[in-house]
Amino acid sequence: MNRRIVSGPAPISAGVVGLGYWGPNLLRGLLELPEVEVRHICDLDEERLAAFSRRYPRATPTTCYDTLLADPELDAIIIATPVYTHFELASAALRAGKHTFVEKPLACSTAQAQELIELARAHDVRLMCGQTFLYSPPVREVKRLVDTHELGDIFFISSSRVNLGLHQRDVSVVWDLAPHDFSILLYWLEEMPESVAAAGRASIMRGIHDVAFISLQFPSGVLANVELSWLAPSKLRRTAIVGSNKMVLYEDGTAEPVRVFDRGVVYQDPETFGEYQLSYRSGDILSPRIAATEPLVAELAEFAQLIRTRKESPNLEIARQIVTLVEAAHESLDRGGVPVAVADHSRVADLTAA
Ligand SMILES: NC(=O)c1ccc[n+]([C@@H]2O[C@H](COP(=O)([O-])OP(=O)(O)OC[C@H]3O[C@@H](n4cnc5c(N)ncnc54)[C@H](O)[C@@H]3O)[C@@H](O)[C@H]2O)c1
Repeated sequence: MNRRIVSGPAPISAGVVGLGYWGPNLLRGLLELPEVEVRHICDLDEERLAAFSRRYPRATPTTCYDTLLADPELDAIIIATPVYTHFELASAALRAGKHTFVEKPLACSTAQAQELIELARAHDVRLMCGQTFLYSPPVREVKRLVDTHELGDIFFISSSRVNLGLHQRDVSVVWDLAPHDFSILLYWLEEMPESVAAAGRASIMRGIHDVAFISLQFPSGVLANVELSWLAPSKLRRTAIVGSNKMVLYEDGTAEPVRVFDRGVVYQDPETFGEYQLSYRSGDILSPRIAATEPLVAELAEFAQLIRTRKESPNLEIARQIVTLVEAAHESLDRGGVPVAVADHSRVADLTAA
């Protein structure tokens, strides 16, 4: 009997660097992908490395990042280390010809983010930034509601991302949490804000802001407010999108993460009616069915797909814009909360010239 031998492409061999809070989630996500084989795990902390090595015996543990760079059999490197290390580790990976996935934010400055993008192009390897929320089914459902104009014109968006912890020692709450909200806003609205104002406070550790209230003004007129904090009585991940036709509440991690409110206010011009006419509309509340796919696995699957198809990540532009917005927010924090014009921002001028 003839047996047909089915053979697909060899799996992509990957190394995961940084096994702190988030790296293990990426490791778990990679192990769900049959097209990826985890060949190395790397962390400077030997105890942590030993613990994960027991759990994942097929991956070779190392404290030496250069071992990954020098391995000719290694296709890709996944970086989940602190923000200040991203540029150094990612640029070394790209120069070594490795496809590179870097956790958010891509780098500590727009110039560094731009350099990474150019390095990836020069070495013809894929670069992707971990912006998990762009793969979240509720975020995608809201995008559909915005794009189909079901909400009408968007007036404003108000978001809270607060919890007690995890205090970071090296970066502010803005570097830590704003990339999530900025990625979602840029994805939904497809425009860069023209100005950013941020007020905040370093309540616990000197010099590290742990609460920030950020306002973003978009050229279309949309106003967004983002509240971020590591100091809050309870965890909240809530965004309200208020449009001229309908309003939406997106609450991550709840049983009904997207609720569409057929509510609004109708205003009639006093010139026509002699006096102000306001009527409030309060219709149905709809909770659309949301797919149960895990964003983290979807994002890593896209990275594998980009490697296979040799395509540039569609989210690189957003990754760079996020860094620019965090820089602008910090500039505003340093200047007592004054609005910083993003178009006048020198680092943004570089960005638009690119
Ligand atoms: N996408 C998300 O939802 C999400 C959530 C949390 C964190 N993150 C991102 O993940 C990254 C890591 O955050 P974290 O909270 O896990 O940090 P962490 O401090 O808990 O862990 C970082 C790990 O990296 C290791 N490390 C540092 N420098 C290293 C080096 N040069 N070589 C090898 N290992 C090194 C440390 O020993 C530590 O174990 C950050 O970029 C953060 O923004 C993303």
